[in-house]
Amino acid sequence: MENFNFYSPTEFVFGKETEREVGHLLKRFNANKVLLHYGGGSIIKSGLYDRVVKALNDENIDYVELGGVRPNPIDSLVYEGIKLSREEAVDFVLAVGGGSVIDSAKAIAAGVHYDGDFWDFYDHKAVVNKALPVGTILTIPAAGSEGSSATVITKESDRLKRGMGSNLLRPKFSIINPELTYTLPFWHTAAGIVDMISHIFERYLSQTQDVILTDRLSESTLISIIEAGRKLIDEPNDYEARATICWAGTIAHNGILGVGREEDWVTHGLEHQLSAVYDMTHGAGLAIMFPAYMLYTLDEDLERFYRLATTVFGVPSNHYHKKAVAIEGIQRLKAFYRALGMPVTLQEGNVKKEDFPTIMTLLEKNMGKTFGNFKKLTLEDAQKIYELAWE
Ligand code: NZQ
Ligand code: ZN
Repeated sequence: MENFNFYSPTEFVFGKETEREVGHLLKRFNANKVLLHYGGGSIIKSGLYDRVVKALNDENIDYVELGGVRPNPIDSLVYEGIKLSREEAVDFVLAVGGGSVIDSAKAIAAGVHYDGDFWDFYDHKAVVNKALPVGTILTIPAAGSEGSSATVITKESDRLKRGMGSNLLRPKFSIINPELTYTLPFWHTAAGIVDMISHIFERYLSQTQDVILTDRLSESTLISIIEAGRKLIDEPNDYEARATICWAGTIAHNGILGVGREEDWVTHGLEHQLSAVYDMTHGAGLAIMFPAYMLYTLDEDLERFYRLATTVFGVPSNHYHKKAVAIEGIQRLKAFYRALGMPVTLQEGNVKKEDFPTIMTLLEKNMGKTFGNFKKLTLEDAQKIYELAWE
């Protein structure tokens, strides 16, 4: 196990009706003027917006609002949010929504006190030294942004989808009420499940030896997500399954499953180019790319894939045919994604072969010519993984 520093300062307020506490929490974190940031309208339809506004009014907390964040959030709304926050002397950003809203909120929070272009952070030309505090009310378990340091934004003009991270952007609090997720279209529930599973894989597939505690925590979290996911296919309003998925999404990405080991993150890089080019749902892109990545890197650590197959996917042990067992594990992962209604090939994701050169150009711009920790990859390797994902 490597040395590590684990920092996860977010206060999580979890359970039924917990959004009622938002006013008290904002008061406790000294919010005087709040930017209420949200997405395309699901919170208005569900009534959550009205409840949040009432909670703010009850505590006499002043606010301005900026809705309209779309999935795969874009830079133009961030600029608008920064301008509005400066004009209105906002001192706290409250994100009500999913990863896209939270990521947009973090970008605004980082940009308000920065003299230059906020995109400098995503270009890695600048680091965040000061940021407005952010709080969240989560409405979709998926990206894990409610507990992470990261934010991912797309620069629309040249379709660059990029992430950056700072501990200053970790939310002060995140309210997670599993009942708020009942209104999700199943597609987004499923994509969220794939995303959180992928956040675990990005850390689980590591060359660091002797991190058995984290391996086992990861495997248990994976098993719990898959069980709850199967339950939700038949009973989408099962509270306990929703609650499991909600908390698992946070655990998968707040850093605890990555401690003491080198993480990978190549597959997220492969996917981000798909959501940049096709505006594809992030989780759907990962459902396509992860099985292909795993098949391509199988021989890097066959023991690890064998363990994953037997422990998480219930493939019977067979020490004489470890590779076959490992491949069966990947096939079962694919079958689970199919059962969730996710695409598992680029064709099913409506990707066009003639766009491969564009995808590769964007990949190089974002990741360089070589990348990866679990397996060192070149652009040629990446092309082969996309081809493996084709059908
Ligand atoms: O915009 P509204 O109307 O709210 O609708 C949203 C959106 O269309 C809808 N939705 C959310 N909660 C709902 C609901 N509909 C009905 N009822 C509810 N309770 O769901 C759609 C998807 O929302 P989005 O926020 O885009 O989903 P997600 O949480 O999956 O976020 C995806 C974004 O996060 C980034 C992804 O790349 C993508 O841009 N990521 C962020 C990370 C981070 N900050 O740490 C890490 C991840 O790996 C990921 O890259
Ligand atoms: Zn992700």
